[in-house]
Amino acid sequence: MVAFSSCQEALQPVEVGIIPQPNSIELQSGAFEIDGNTVIYTDSSNDGQSLSLELTNFFSNQFDLKLATSNEAQPNGIQLKKTNSVGKSGSYKLNINSKGVIIEGSTYQGIFYGVQTLMQLLTPSSKIKKPVLQFVSIEDAPEFGWRGMMLDVSRHFMSKDSVKKVIDILAMHKMNKFHWHLVDGIGWRIEIDKYPELTKKGAWRKVKKNKKPWEDYESTYKNNGAEIYGGFYAKDDIREIVAYAASKYIDVIPEIEMPGHSDAATQCYPELLCKDAKGGGVYCAGNGRSYEFLENILAEVTELFPYEYIHIGGDEVGKSNWLGCSLCQNRMKEEGLKDGDELQSYFVKRMEKFIYSKNRKLMGWDEILEGGLPERAAVMSWRGVQGGIEASNAGHDVVMSPGSPCYFDHSQGKSEFEPPSWGGYNNLLKVYDFNPIPEEIKPEMTKHILGGQANLWTEQIPSLKHAQYMMLPRLSALAEALWTEPSQKDKKLFIEKIDEHFDRLTELGYNYATSALSPDYNTEYNAETESFSLELTNELNLHEIRYTIDGTMPDMSSALYTDPIVYSTPIDLYAQTFRNGVKVGFPLIKQFSTQFSAKCEIDYKYPYNETYSGGGDRALFDSKFAIARGDDPNWQGIKKTDFDVSINLGDVTTLSNISLNFFQHIAATSVMLPTRVSIKVSEDGEKYAEVYNETLETIESRDPIIKLIETKFTERKVGWIKIEATNRGKLPEWHIRKGDAWVFVDEVSIK
Ligand code: ACM
Repeated sequence: MVAFSSCQEALQPVEVGIIPQPNSIELQSGAFEIDGNTVIYTDSSNDGQSLSLELTNFFSNQFDLKLATSNEAQPNGIQLKKTNSVGKSGSYKLNINSKGVIIEGSTYQGIFYGVQTLMQLLTPSSKIKKPVLQFVSIEDAPEFGWRGMMLDVSRHFMSKDSVKKVIDILAMHKMNKFHWHLVDGIGWRIEIDKYPELTKKGAWRKVKKNKKPWEDYESTYKNNGAEIYGGFYAKDDIREIVAYAASKYIDVIPEIEMPGHSDAATQCYPELLCKDAKGGGVYCAGNGRSYEFLENILAEVTELFPYEYIHIGGDEVGKSNWLGCSLCQNRMKEEGLKDGDELQSYFVKRMEKFIYSKNRKLMGWDEILEGGLPERAAVMSWRGVQGGIEASNAGHDVVMSPGSPCYFDHSQGKSEFEPPSWGGYNNLLKVYDFNPIPEEIKPEMTKHILGGQANLWTEQIPSLKHAQYMMLPRLSALAEALWTEPSQKDKKLFIEKIDEHFDRLTELGYNYATSALSPDYNTEYNAETESFSLELTNELNLHEIRYTIDGTMPDMSSALYTDPIVYSTPIDLYAQTFRNGVKVGFPLIKQFSTQFSAKCEIDYKYPYNETYSGGGDRALFDSKFAIARGDDPNWQGIKKTDFDVSINLGDVTTLSNISLNFFQHIAATSVMLPTRVSIKVSEDGEKYAEVYNETLETIESRDPIIKLIETKFTERKVGWIKIEATNRGKLPEWHIRKGDAWVFVDEVSIK
């Protein structure tokens, strides 16, 4: 043991870069060095012993630290000490002084968090070659009791070992809830003794048309397991995961989806669908056998999962089958239910009673508010925070996980090179700014906000590696948003810490995104000089950006970006961020066009949404055509109101063709084609001639659609163009989402 008397090696706050930020941290002068003679002292309980094992494993590459049982601090020791004081759940104290390290907590969970902090103090190894710890005094406790993440293992199955690796990432960030989405349309992933078909047929993905899913499984699985398109967890697997999570003080919340998103189950037991059902996936709410089936399943589920909450889904239930089903209609008459929402509420209330009879509590997505919420139910708010506000103000417990910013299946960077994602755009700092308590919640009701969580849906995510990429570093930001008191959050410090955290994640072997370092841009037109200026930056405003305009990829000898690049003829930009000489993030490869005269200006009657700006006011003229994905950053999105613009070309030009694209993707977004499009042209900006006016048919397909609107006309002189596209307004009844439609538009072309 060496106790340094001076603080020559004193660490600055960023150098003790702990994520999430502790709520009180005081550095003192002096340092303690761990060496081969350091002993880990703990009590003889199972928890105490396994915590000390976690630490010996951590040091095992350097030292074989000895373990001893003692509840008293000893010199040159790392003491894990359970105290009798009562603190906030999960609180701990960590003191490093000349005697050694003491981690105290009134619960083992608290001590576990102290151990996580200690491990972060010693990583990444590049920071401290020797395990030298500056004297410090930390007092810490979580702000929110629910710090979670949901993992969807239905859309893509994940092996037991991969699930454990996901849990490891949660644990190192002091997250404490793992919401396990075990059941959905694509696959049933949990063994149920009473209904073996669920995992015999229901757990295997349909990968080829005209084949039953399990036939695919059998042919691929038997082929030496070369490719398995599915899988499930046997009851012992579930017990193993639950125990593994518990060893890291993480509660597991199983989700058994009902009454919708249940195609995997109803394909095995089609008798549970409404008679004449169009499309599967929704249990008949009139048939008593549906309730019996689900209660039998829940009885087995509650035996496997000890945590107090059982999640029953409840989201996105199409009600059209119910409305055309005689059993459902009878049920509605008998129970005095006036519509599909009330029938759903009846369904959920029945399930709640059953779950309560098993001494558990029901949680569901915010749709369970519709038609009336069961008295004791808790709500998980995903369609924004509105459902959570309503439920908490009515006295229900709530977990906030609004799509923005908590959906980690959304893209975190704007680059076209980002791996597949789904839906919108949730960048790192947006996650950092997440506050689960909106102002609209009455002060006396904020206690009902249990906390927040991220949701990782896996339609687009087939592997652990991809899942890690979507989680990291956003989960680090979320951890700080949920653990750290708002007064202790410091975004500038977080940005410095996250840059260091990247090295920690590298050492742990995790795949993480550096999208927040990818170059991003902004252009501005200067009418006086008739030129554009192009600004380059990245989300974290860190590290060097180098660029070329000669069509080659930048390297360390390329121009270093310092000031805006000025251009008045088109340029081909290649830009790349370098961190300590090494490429990070994706390159920005973009043609900055002057197809439209530099003088061209666009005037929006209704502004576009900032999150879907498409790149700003010149997004429609930047010669980048958005592809058929809602997360393509080139789409410009307008919610609720019309796309209604007037374009001043700056010069009068002879034209005979104008075109532009609109987008729709019902399965994944609220983006719908406009109902009508009109295009008018003018030479003088006063008298306009209409060259296009069409009503667009509604297309109910769930597939992504790009609709090209093109008008050809006899050559004429044009200086101004007006485009109006009528937003559909409220989403139609049959749409799986509710609320207002978006119009997505990109790239106006003129010839
Ligand atoms: C959900 O994203 N459908 C809960």
